[in-house]
Amino acid sequence: MNILVINGPNLNLLGTREIDVYGTTTLAELMIWLETSQEGIKHKFKFYQSNHEGEIIDIIHDERLWAKGLIINPGAYTHYSYAIRDAIESVSIPTVEVHLSDIFNRETFRSKSVISDICIDQIYGKGKNSYLEGLKKLLNHIVQK
Ligand code: DQA
Repeated sequence: MNILVINGPNLNLLGTREIDVYGTTTLAELMIWLETSQEGIKHKFKFYQSNHEGEIIDIIHDERLWAKGLIINPGAYTHYSYAIRDAIESVSIPTVEVHLSDIFNRETFRSKSVISDICIDQIYGKGKNSYLEGLKKLLNHIVQK
């Protein structure tokens, strides 16, 4: 299965960014861990990170025929980007929204996602395991369809 993984703004700084919230694992380490996990090795991945809304939208458009599923951590765009929401809806790729931190137990603005209702699921608060659980949810959904 072709799985597209998109990480949004500031996630390139994982490993040094607010380590009390996000931990010390870098984004590269996290993506390798996901790809080489027992579940991951059965699938093909493309990993992207961007700090720019339009670029994230372009990636979704450009990979729409390749990707059979999308795992996205939209970072702060989660909370207000209707444009990324529209992009996901436009391509109809089954999508899981993931977050490292527990967005419901932080600042109030993080509790709102403008994307979650068009996703199969939203996984949060499990650190890197949010991505692995997201992958499993995505695969179950695709297989059952
Ligand atoms: C995040 C949570 C967002 O609120 C924040 O803006 C991020 C990371 C997470 O993975 O926990 O950049 O998506």
